[in-house]
Amino acid sequence: MAISRASIDRVIQAADIVGLVGDYVSLKKKGINWEACCPFHEEKTPSFKVNPVKGIYKCFGCGKGGDSISFMMDVDSLSYVEAIRSLARRFNVELEETESDFREEQIKQSERDSLQIAANFAQEFFVSNLHETEEGRSIGMAYFLERGLRPDVIKAFGLGYARDEWDALLQEAEKKQYSRELLEKAGLILINEETHKTYDRFRGRITFPIYNVSGKVMAWGARMLGKDKNQPKYINSPESILFDKSNALYGLFQAKNAVRHSDMCYLTEGYMDVIAMHQAGVENTVASSGTSLTEGQIRLIGRFTKNLTLLYDGDKAGIKASLRGIDMILAAGLNVRAVVLPDGHDPDSYAKDYGSAALQDYLKSHIRDFISFKAELAAEESASDPIKKAELLESILESISLVPDAVRRSVFLAEAARIFRMPEDTLHESLNLRVFNRNKRSRNQSETYSPTNQTGQNPSPVPVVDEKVKLNEADSLILELENALVRNLVLFGEMKIEEEFTVAKYILEEVADVNFQSELTKKVFEEYSDRHKEGHDVSPSYFLHHPEETLKRSVVDLCAGSYHLSHNWAGKFNIVIPEEEDLLAASLFKVILQLKRNHILAEIRLLEARMSSENEDEDEMVLLVEISKLKKKEIEFSGKLGSVINH
Ligand code: UTP
Ligand code: MN
Repeated sequence: MAISRASIDRVIQAADIVGLVGDYVSLKKKGINWEACCPFHEEKTPSFKVNPVKGIYKCFGCGKGGDSISFMMDVDSLSYVEAIRSLARRFNVELEETESDFREEQIKQSERDSLQIAANFAQEFFVSNLHETEEGRSIGMAYFLERGLRPDVIKAFGLGYARDEWDALLQEAEKKQYSRELLEKAGLILINEETHKTYDRFRGRITFPIYNVSGKVMAWGARMLGKDKNQPKYINSPESILFDKSNALYGLFQAKNAVRHSDMCYLTEGYMDVIAMHQAGVENTVASSGTSLTEGQIRLIGRFTKNLTLLYDGDKAGIKASLRGIDMILAAGLNVRAVVLPDGHDPDSYAKDYGSAALQDYLKSHIRDFISFKAELAAEESASDPIKKAELLESILESISLVPDAVRRSVFLAEAARIFRMPEDTLHESLNLRVFNRNKRSRNQSETYSPTNQTGQNPSPVPVVDEKVKLNEADSLILELENALVRNLVLFGEMKIEEEFTVAKYILEEVADVNFQSELTKKVFEEYSDRHKEGHDVSPSYFLHHPEETLKRSVVDLCAGSYHLSHNWAGKFNIVIPEEEDLLAASLFKVILQLKRNHILAEIRLLEARMSSENEDEDEMVLLVEISKLKKKEIEFSGKLGSVINH
C-alpha cells in the first residue's frame, strides 16, 4: 500500500468519530457512549452506539461495526484507501506516501483517470446518440419504448445507442483529441491486426452502461436489435483497469440504497431483468453481468446486505445456475433464498404480462429458503423413488455443510429434518462428517481467518469465509471461550496482575499449547505474541484500529459494548467468563481450563465420528487408544476445574 502506516495512525488519531458519525445521524450522549438510530438499517429505537474512547462504533441491531475508517467504507461505500484519503482531507492530516509506491500509484491513478475520462465521454456519446440523432430515436428509443421502458428508467440506467457505423465514436473521440491507444484500452475501439484499420466495438446496438458502486461508468453491455443468428446478442466490454468483471455487479449502483434499506438483494440473470424489476418497483435487484456468479460479486453484495434472493427463470439452465449460486452464497456465510418464476417467464415478461403489483405479489408468495427450494424442485420425482429421495437429502446436507457458522447449520438441519420427517440426530451425524471432511481437506491450506460470531446477538458484518471445524453446540462453546480470551487479551493485555507480570503474559503462557479453533483467535494471538517478543506494548487500539479491515471488524465485534455470555451456556456448562470489571487471574484461569478441556472433548468427538464412519482406511485400534488417552486427560482437567469451581 502506498500510504505509510504512521500516517494512517495519525488519521485514526485525528478522526473524531463522534463528529464524523454525527454528520450522518443525530447522536445522543449516554454514559460514555453516544447513541443513535442506525444509519445502516431501518429502526425506531436506537441500537447504534459510538464509543469515543475506543474510537469505534457498533450497531447491536444489524451488527455493523468498526472504526472511523470502516464507517467511511460503509456509509459512502469507499475502499479502504479511499476512506483513509477522505478522512485525511476532512481532519487535515497530510498523508505520507512512500516514494516508489507513490509514483507507481500516481501512474496507475493517472492511467485510471484518463480511462475514466474516455469512458465518461463514450457514455455521453451513446446517450446523446439515443436522444439526439435520427437513427438513435427511430431505432434505439423506439425499441426501448416498445419494450415498455419508462423515460425515467432509461435515464436512471444511462441507456444509450451506438450508431450503425464503423467509426462514429472514433471520429467524435478524435475530434476531442482522445488517443487511439486510450480508446483501445477502454475497450471502445478495436484494431484489425492485418489491415490496421480501427473501428468501434459497439455498432448498431443499444448500450447498457455498467457502473461501479460510486456511479462511475466502467463498461458496457451492448444488445443487438432484431434477430441475427450470426451475431452475439450482447457484446460486452473487455476487462480493463476500470472494469474487473468478476467484481462488478450490474445495477448495484442503482440498487444499493434499496438493498440497504430492505436488507435484501435480488439476484437476477440479465440486464433487462434488473431494469424490469426496478421499473416494477423492486429496486433492490442486481445481476451478474455476462459471467456466472463469482465469489467477488457475493462479497460485494455482502457489503450492503447479508440476505440474497436468487431469481432465475424456471428453465433447466436457470435452475442449474441457482443451485450453483446457492452453494457459493452459503459458503460465503450469507443467507440465501430463491424464487423461481413460472416456466418461460423472466421478470421482464412477467411484469409486462401481469403488471408490477402481480410481480411483487409473486415474489413475496413464492420466496423459499434454500432447503424448501431444493426439496420442492425434486419433490415429484423423489416422492415415489427412495433413491432419488436419498440423493436429494444428500445434496441438501451438502449445502448445509457449507454454512460456516455452526449455530446456523443446526437451524437448517432442523428444517431439513422437518421436511424429510427424519430424526435430527440421524442427519446430524452425516452433516458432521461432511463438515469434518471438508475442513480436513482445507486445513493448512488457508490463511484466512473467520470473524467468529457466537454471542448470538451480533451478526458479523463480514462474510465468513472458510470456517474451521465446528461440529456442534459444544464447538460453539469453544469459540465462545476463545472469543472471551481474545477480548481479554485485546482490552486488558497490558494490565498488570503483579509487578512486571501482565495479563497478556499470563494468557500467552497458559495457552501456548492450545491449538485454537478460530482463525481469528490464532491470528490475534500470533500477532500479539510477536509484538511482545519484539518488546512492543500492545494497547487496545492496536487491534481496534488494525489495518486489516476484516480482522479489525471482528475484534471490534468482540470488544464493543459489554460482553454477555449467553445465559444458557453459563447454566449448562457451569462457565464463568470474566466481565470487564471482574478481571481476576482466577476467573481467567477458569476460562483457560475450560477451553483446554473443551478442545480435548472436541478431539474425542472427532475420533469417535471417525470410528463410526465405516471408513476402511481407519484402524479402529489406533483410534481407540487415542480416545482413551484423551479421555484420561479430560478427567484430569475436569478434576482441576472441579476444584476451582467448587472453591
Ligand atoms: P438474456 O438472453 O436473458 O438477456 O441473457 P436479457 O438481458 O434478458 O435480454 P432480453 O430480455 O432478451 O432483451 C441474460 C444475460 O446474459 C448475458 C447478459 O448479461 C444478459 O443480460 N449475455 C447474454 C451476454 O453477455 N451475451 C450474450 O450474448 C447473451
Ligand atoms: Mn430477458
